[in-house]
Amino acid sequence: MRDFYPDQMRTRNWLFSRWRESATRYGFEEYSSSVVEQEELFILKSGEEIVSQLFNFTDKGGRRMALRPEMTPTFARMIAAKGGALAKPLKWFSIAQCFRYERMSKGRKREHYQWNLDVVGVPEVTAEAELLAVALDALGGLGLSAKDVVVRISHRGLMGAVLEGLDIAQESWTGVFGIIDKRGKEPDETLWKLMEAQGVPESTIRALFSLLDENTFDPFYELLEQKGLPTASVEDLRTLFGYLEAYGVRDYCEFSPSIVRGLPYYTGIVFECFDREGTFRAVFGGGRYDSLLELFGAGPLPSAGLGFGDVVIQEILQEKGLLPGLSRRIDFFLVPFSQEERVQAFRTVQQLRKQGFYCDLVLNAKKLKGALREGARLRAKRVVLLLPDELKQGLLVLRDLESGQEERIPEERFLADPGRFLQDDSNSPSRRT
Ligand code: HAM
Repeated sequence: MRDFYPDQMRTRNWLFSRWRESATRYGFEEYSSSVVEQEELFILKSGEEIVSQLFNFTDKGGRRMALRPEMTPTFARMIAAKGGALAKPLKWFSIAQCFRYERMSKGRKREHYQWNLDVVGVPEVTAEAELLAVALDALGGLGLSAKDVVVRISHRGLMGAVLEGLDIAQESWTGVFGIIDKRGKEPDETLWKLMEAQGVPESTIRALFSLLDENTFDPFYELLEQKGLPTASVEDLRTLFGYLEAYGVRDYCEFSPSIVRGLPYYTGIVFECFDREGTFRAVFGGGRYDSLLELFGAGPLPSAGLGFGDVVIQEILQEKGLLPGLSRRIDFFLVPFSQEERVQAFRTVQQLRKQGFYCDLVLNAKKLKGALREGARLRAKRVVLLLPDELKQGLLVLRDLESGQEERIPEERFLADPGRFLQDDSNSPSRRT
């Protein structure tokens, strides 16, 4: 599990605030839920792989419980519980702590935070377009362009129809989907052998692999038409790519038929975002799940969503030097010369804080030199010295830590507009929103 020391916490808060800002700017509302759920929720709704990675336990009441490995079943449970009372379409987001007992590797931890974005009540691919637009807006805001990351998009129905078109027996489909999902992660020879083990004939494997290398819709359309199979999946994909163009994010997106996604609840468009160099695990993944809510007795509710983890994105930003050097903010650091000046320091610091400035002060009896060192360690913008002789005349001493320059100012004048004494007045509370 992860410990977040203040430095890491600053980065985490920065990332979360970016996520929150993008989501709310796109009209998504935030929700939350407990990290502990009934184990059954995931056994019924998450895929086999996730179930094998559950952190589960029996509680004191003898109930089987689990730490959530993903947010989607919880989200579906929450929507179903309110049924018709919730106005649709609905756009919700959450930043959810998730736990998976995975083999730890680069980009994979046993605990991660996942930004979840979901749209309920929209059967058209406008939902997917909006979801991709907000996730890519956030990525752009973090400094990643279409040169750095790519979203690979496909359709669950497309691969189903292709397997049917290639006369692959229905009982092998789940196995074959699992193998297709490994494309790019495992060598083709390994996948070839796995396909053979599923009973797929050599000529069919060859035809399937050559289709998986296609990046245009035409060969798929032709195959489906030729076999008299539904072409709706290709039409959905074409429409979605048209919308993505209009949203201004088309450059980030690529049709990639081998994207099938490991989770079983997806029914339509599926997608995953990767770094272009292919060094890291998926940045985010999601798709359409039109039947999941029905399993909770909610009636048919078309839905689509995505999950965007905090681990891989931080690794990529780190590698590209895009993680900001965040430090704590201290505008004024107050230094009472001795215990005599302490009470005055408390009064002054509270007046500054009430005005909205970020302030700290010396809490331990300390020599002036040590106090200035502490101010420097905190990177305080200004140190305010409370010296006995000056205080008697109603004066404060403002010291610039870098230049060592000091200014004597009547306390009243200083407190009337402290922001004036900060070098960078963009931090004055009147300028802050
Ligand atoms: P997922 O692909 O399993 O989808 O996870 C989504 C994202 O969460 C991944 O792309 C990755 O960034 C992050 N992630 C997952 N597992 C780990 C881990 N062990 N360590 C670090 N990061 C991880 C889902 O969970 C779906 N429920 C997403 C969704 C929402 N679909 C519809 N709505």
